[in-house]
Amino acid sequence: MAIREILTVPDPRLKEVSKPVEGPVTDELRALMDDMLETMYDAPGIGLAAIQIGVPLRIIVMDLAKEGDEPAPRYFVNPEILETVEETQPYEEGCLSVPDIFDEIERPARCRLRYMDYNGNLVEEWAEDLYAVCIQHEMDHLEGTLFIDHLSRLKRQRAIDKVKKAKLRKIREDAA
Ligand code: NI
Repeated sequence: MAIREILTVPDPRLKEVSKPVEGPVTDELRALMDDMLETMYDAPGIGLAAIQIGVPLRIIVMDLAKEGDEPAPRYFVNPEILETVEETQPYEEGCLSVPDIFDEIERPARCRLRYMDYNGNLVEEWAEDLYAVCIQHEMDHLEGTLFIDHLSRLKRQRAIDKVKKAKLRKIREDAA
């Protein structure tokens, strides 16, 4: 396993639409998912889409276990949202590709999913609460959409500027 670099805004790759995985879940894909999970734990974060490490495939990893609990990794290959409920819930979201920015996003409270898991089994289930928030956030990444794209243009630009400034500051500090 290896920790990969996480892309941050305004990297244009984050706007790419990811392609479906063709064929079964192979060992090569499992190795990619292992790297994604390790990268996500290291960050630390609770969800990561493959495009966030520059791989434009429809793959997501997630772990919603509370701190101190046993790790509970989840893997999603070619996930699809089959239906959502009308009821929405607000949640203060963040993203490893938009570090240190948090804002409230309103999304459907529950959604029904279909995906292949780590072993290539087809799973269909309902997601609710944080699971529903996280899978919808991660699935947005597969379409090249970031959570800040749900905010006003002004808020989005401010977020991107803040991340850019922090990156420049870090480059200067590292050079000093
Ligand atoms: Ni994200």
